[in-house]
Amino acid sequence: MGGRSDFDVRFAELTLAASGQFDYSIVDVFSGNPDLATMNQLNIEPLHNDFGARVTGTAFSGDMSDTDVALIRDAIDTYSLLCFPDQDMTDEKQLAFTRLLGEPEAEHVTFGSTGKVTYFGTVGNVQDDGSKRGNAHASTHYQTGNQLWHSDSSFREIPSFVSILHAYEVPGEGGATAFASMRAGYARLADDMRETIEPLHVIHDYVFSRSQVARVDPNHAASLPPVMHRLVRENPANGLKNYYVGSHARSIPGWSGIDSRRLLDDLLKRATQPQDIYAHHWQVGDTVIWDNRCMLHRGTDYDADRWRRRMRQTRVVGHEKGVIHGSATR
Ligand SMILES: [Fe+2]
Repeated sequence: MGGRSDFDVRFAELTLAASGQFDYSIVDVFSGNPDLATMNQLNIEPLHNDFGARVTGTAFSGDMSDTDVALIRDAIDTYSLLCFPDQDMTDEKQLAFTRLLGEPEAEHVTFGSTGKVTYFGTVGNVQDDGSKRGNAHASTHYQTGNQLWHSDSSFREIPSFVSILHAYEVPGEGGATAFASMRAGYARLADDMRETIEPLHVIHDYVFSRSQVARVDPNHAASLPPVMHRLVRENPANGLKNYYVGSHARSIPGWSGIDSRRLLDDLLKRATQPQDIYAHHWQVGDTVIWDNRCMLHRGTDYDADRWRRRMRQTRVVGHEKGVIHGSATR
């Protein structure tokens, strides 16, 4: 009667084991409240030792229960990456759900280039009119910048909290999204390395990163000046720390370029070894949410001449504000 086996709603408690590896232990978050438990059928199944969960038992909309939204928020804090299969999604439902998690973020390419606010980015090679762009198209090439490990919007004054990506059309081969955790990377650092990086800041710069693969529109570039963030960030809900790197991370203020690159490349490498990665192979109907505060991700290649890929993305504005680099001295 009322035992734990009756409860479908589960919550994973993330603990840092003495080994420095993350260890998930599943505990019943509603063990003291059977009413809540019977209202919810969220099932959470971990995907990787360091992060990630597959979640079933809920459907995205703007009418989700407060309890489901609270559970999803908790699961974001705990797992950093949530995969919801078989969602009957529309743009309207996605934006309504996005608003339940916070303020939608204006998509920066359209806003920076034209000044128009839209909350969706289309990922892939299918346009709004249904036409497909191939490998040779400039926009396909531009999106190859997303194949570098990065955290979405880390180059913004207020970076993203989460990204929400829904798959409408997926390639038959390729086009997976790979994820890795900077929280797990931080947990694996030796104490002296943690002490070294604790006081540092890092400059994230979109033009620095994207210009490695394509020309950035001048208006767009002007809208995104380099921004300085703390290199070590902490999740306020659970106190777990991570470092904050990726392709947009350009340099460490006060350090030489070469020393900056050595450190930032080293931290990136420490988080993205093969055993640290979960690659999500998309199915139509998947909705995936990831925590940009502590996660890295990268798209993987697919043949845009052969396949159609259409995914719609929204993002939620975060809470931690950086400093526009150089603004204090102007
Ligand atoms: Fe991304």
